[in-house]
Parts: sequence; structure tokens; C-alpha cells
Amino acid sequence: MKIGTPKEIKNNENRVGLTPAGVSALVKQGHIVYIQEGAGVNSGFSDELYLKVGATLLPSIEEVYAASDMIVKVKEPIEPEYRLIKKDQLLFTYFHFASNAGLTKAMIDSGAVCLAYETVEKADRSLPLLIPMSEVAGRMSIQEGAKYLERPNGGKGILLGGVPGVKPAKVLVLGGGVVGTQAAWMAAGLGADVTLADISLPRLRYLSDVLPKNVKTLVSSEYVIAEEVKTADLVIGAVLVTGAKAPHLVTADMLSTMQKGAVMVDVAIDQGGCFETSRPTTHNDPIYTIDGVVHYCVANIPGAVPYTSTLALTNATLPYAIQLANLGWEKACEASEELRKGLNIVKGEIVYPAVREAFLG
Ligand SMILES: NC(=O)c1ccc[n+]([C@@H]2O[C@H](COP(=O)([O-])OP(=O)(O)OC[C@H]3O[C@@H](n4cnc5c(N)ncnc54)[C@H](O)[C@@H]3O)[C@@H](O)[C@H]2O)c1
Repeated sequence: MKIGTPKEIKNNENRVGLTPAGVSALVKQGHIVYIQEGAGVNSGFSDELYLKVGATLLPSIEEVYAASDMIVKVKEPIEPEYRLIKKDQLLFTYFHFASNAGLTKAMIDSGAVCLAYETVEKADRSLPLLIPMSEVAGRMSIQEGAKYLERPNGGKGILLGGVPGVKPAKVLVLGGGVVGTQAAWMAAGLGADVTLADISLPRLRYLSDVLPKNVKTLVSSEYVIAEEVKTADLVIGAVLVTGAKAPHLVTADMLSTMQKGAVMVDVAIDQGGCFETSRPTTHNDPIYTIDGVVHYCVANIPGAVPYTSTLALTNATLPYAIQLANLGWEKACEASEELRKGLNIVKGEIVYPAVREAFLG
């Protein structure tokens, strides 16, 4: 199959859909891989690295789309790309259709086959192509939180791990899913005094078995959160209620009981945020302060570490890309329920129930 990876043109997107390792694997299986010149540079992969493993470099995005049967990328196509997409072309990337009517219409009109990373689903209902980005965001949340706890950055000036003779910082993690677990690991590794709250008792039992001893677990409730935030130096918001806006676990009233210079990182901001006072921020302007509490609410946290994020994402996408390339999308989706769940729009028709509901009722 002819496979193409264009350079991402969405603002601030530095990841790339295929790494040299991915190209190497596809080329070894007899496929032709087109990479747009410079596509990997922001993730640390030069054109030379792609050439060495057998990619064909093309100078423009137009040529990549025109030459390829399957496009493997990261973000949903944006407007300048719509006219480049060909009828029957397979697009394997994040789409997030339900929140984007313009994109949905454009993809229906294109007659392409849209297989969305975010809805590829395993039998246990986990989402293997979303997990890597949650892992990155969870780990990053502590790194960013630690940074903004520093006095010159607006925080109270406390070191997460303390030092011998000085207490460590208190970190409260709300939600013990993928993001929360990774955040708790990182904070515990730095020596902080960590508390993780979740509504699922079985999940807390599991986490209390596997997490280090400096992580305590609590059943999440309004009362417990109101008490815990009073003494927390760093609060991480990592809850998810599938298909719904995040609940406001830390209210504006609770904020006024918190310490000045405490930091709140709302990772759930992409679902509306789990602190009442959260609003989305960007990597260029990541924080703001209310009641003396620093808020970090970047909606695309993994974007700050494109090298790690690209590798994490492509480690997960490549096995599926290989199946699609080897069998073609129809046979691959017949053979794999996981991939079949990824089909969102097929040749002009919305086939994913939640997207159909969002637009056709
Ligand atoms: N900002 C970013 O860059 C970025 C990146 C990746 C993920 N996210 C977001 O992070 C959030 C968490 O993602 P995840 O992959 O960890 O989800 P997940 O489904 O793995 O975990 C969510 C957890 O929240 C718990 N929960 C639900 N309601 C709760 C409550 N009231 N109190 C405490 N816990 C509660 C659930 O029991 C579950 O364990 C999502 O909103 C996701 O979209 C953001």
C-alpha cells in the first residue's frame, strides 16, 4: 500500500504520525511510505533518518495526499487539508468528530474512510490510542505543578520532596484512572506526600496495592475534597465521567480555603475542567491566579513534549497501521473488532453511533 504522513499544520502541533522506526517496519513489509519534508523535525526526527529507512520524501503536503492510499497523522485534518483528501482514501488519525460539525461535513463530502484513533476500543472497553496521551499528561502534570510551586513562578516556594529535616509537599490527585495513576507515581517518586481520591473502591484497592507507600488513597466525596484541599500544596484534577462534562470537584468556595501559592493543575480541562474556576490555557500562557491559587489548565499538555508524545503515540498506533496496510481497511476491520470500532465515517456515511447521534439525532 502507499502510505503518507504529512507535516501537521494545526497550530502548535509538533508531533508526527510515523517515526523512522514505523517507516522501517512498513517498508520491510513491502509498503511504500511517503513523508513530507520536515514532518518529523519538531519531534526530533530529521529527513535523513526517514530516508535511511526507505521513506520517499515529498516536498509538499499536496503531493503526500495525492500519492497515498492511506494517510497516517496525528491531529484531525484542518480546513486547508480538506480539499486534498481523496475519495476512498483511508485516514488514520485523531478526529474527535462529535465536537466539530465543519470537519464532519467535510469528511462526509470527501468520500474518504475515517478511522479515528480515539474510538479504537479493546474488548475490555479501554481506548488503546488515548491511553498514551493520558500517560504523558499525567506525568507532565507533576512536572508542571512542581515548576509553578516555585516562588519565581508564582507558587508558595515549596520543594515537592522536601529535604531531610523538612516536610515534603502535599499532593492531592483527584481521579485514579490513567492520568491520576501516572501523576501519583511521579509525585511519589519525587518524595511528595501524596493522596489519591477516586469514587471507585475496587480501583483504590488495586492502586493501594501497586503504588508506593507514600501514596494514601481516599474515597472521593465533596466533604473529603473540601477537607483535603485546605492543606494541599498541589492539586491534580484527573477525573473522567465517560461522555459527560467533568464534575466541578473543587468549587470556588473551596478555593478560598486553600493556601496562597498552592497550585492546581486541571488535566481534565479538555472535558470542561474539574475545578469550578478552571478555564482553558495554552503553552504560551499556561497559568493564571485566583484567590492566590495558581491555575494551570493547558488543554494539550502532551504538546509540550513532542519527542516523548510522538513515540508514545506511534508505539500504540503502529501495530494497527500495519494491519491496515497489510490487509486494507475492509479486511482489517473485519478481522479486528478493535479497529472496526475506529470507523467513524465511511465513504460519505457516519457509521459511529455517538457521532451519528451528535449530528443526526
Ligand atoms: N489536558 C490534557 O492534555 C489531557 C491529556 C490526556 C487526558 N486528559 C484528560 O484527563 C482526564 C482523565 O483521563 P484518564 O485517561 O485518566 O481517564 P480515566 O477514565 O482513566 O480515569 C478517570 C478516573 O476518574 C474517576 N472519577 C470519576 N468521577 C470522580 C470523582 N467524582 N472523584 C474522583 N474520581 C472520579 C474514575 O473512577 C476514573 O478512575 C480526562 O478528562 C481526559 O480527557 C487531558
